[in-house]
Amino acid sequence: MLQRNDDPGHLTRYETSLRRLAGRGRHRSLSQNAGIDFSSNDYLALAGDARIGEALQAAVARGVPIGAGGSRLLRGNDPEHLALEAEAAAFFGSQAALYFGSGFMANYALLACLPHNADLVVLDELIHASCHDGASATRARVSLATHNDANAFEDAIIAWRRDGGTGRPWLVAESLYSMDGDRAPLNDLIAIANRHDGFLVVDEAHATGVFGPDGRGLAAGFEGLDNVIAVHTCGKALGASGALVCLPSVLADYLVNRSRPFIYATAPSPLMASAVREALRVLRDEPERRDRLKRLVTQMTDGLGELGREATGTQIQPIVIGDPTATMQCAEALQARGYDIRGIRPPTVAEGTSRLRISLTLNADEAALADMLSALGEELDRLGL
Ligand SMILES: Cc1ncc(COP(=O)(O)O)c(C=O)c1O
Repeated sequence: MLQRNDDPGHLTRYETSLRRLAGRGRHRSLSQNAGIDFSSNDYLALAGDARIGEALQAAVARGVPIGAGGSRLLRGNDPEHLALEAEAAAFFGSQAALYFGSGFMANYALLACLPHNADLVVLDELIHASCHDGASATRARVSLATHNDANAFEDAIIAWRRDGGTGRPWLVAESLYSMDGDRAPLNDLIAIANRHDGFLVVDEAHATGVFGPDGRGLAAGFEGLDNVIAVHTCGKALGASGALVCLPSVLADYLVNRSRPFIYATAPSPLMASAVREALRVLRDEPERRDRLKRLVTQMTDGLGELGREATGTQIQPIVIGDPTATMQCAEALQARGYDIRGIRPPTVAEGTSRLRISLTLNADEAALADMLSALGEELDRLGL
């Protein structure tokens, strides 16, 4: 029989650590969703969309299973995964696509696996945690570049070559940054990758479905290049979950053979693959969703201008406050008024840059946005921010 651990000290270090977090205004807890959505990444309101629901019902009716029942290399390789990957490769213009269970896992898997030990991985300093963690598992050398500074990427490569680096550089950027709402200098980054015989990895998480022709992302212009890998997450504008890694066939084959998170995990739900297939069709069939989102972005840009605040011009808008406690106070005040706006604190963002992260989705209409912007102005004034 299992004995209860009678040592009262065995949980103390966790409690102490949590108290320390609270003391620094950084303790988090899970909360119920409430209020009008100004915080999700469901940019095109596809997460609860009837058309996707109907596609799922049809998939269930034709026998698509909920669970894959195994890993892709064993019994878990469902025809629905293969259909999705073929359609995604055609849609995003890549030689191949691989479907992972999450964007975090996709970024982790490819950065942990593809760069060799003679290579260099250069990460934008503000890149998503999944890329940092993937890079921490690589055998390649890793370097951080100042945010959105293409010269810093090139300088890192030049310094590494000078030090005797013999492999290939991997430049890693988000096309649209999740916490800042700004865009990467992708044209400069691909030019640097080409100049130095390197690869460019673009995490399109927040651009997929929103930017580019048919919502194919901000790197759509580089589709099909044999040194570009694009990660299209499916849990944001596509309203589902998982991620499609679009890449040259040989690299897809390499991941299937060498990537531990791909090999040693149960394959994503085949039904989720059905949902993503339908979401890709929606991107092509319903451009009006992107147009409406663009109009909301313009409205927010104008509204923020009236508040004397700078706008990103994208669906992601940070309001940087700095102090974490003041940030959370402001977020709570807006939540109390019925707007679901969250505060983002370190370590998710840098010390001194705590912020409200406002995201625009089709879950909130023009009138709700106008009301939210006046509430935002009032609360920032009231709190002296
Ligand atoms: C830029 C970026 N990349 C990757 C991910 C991870 O994607 P997923 O939520 O599908 O795991 C996220 C999600 O938070 C993200 O914002």
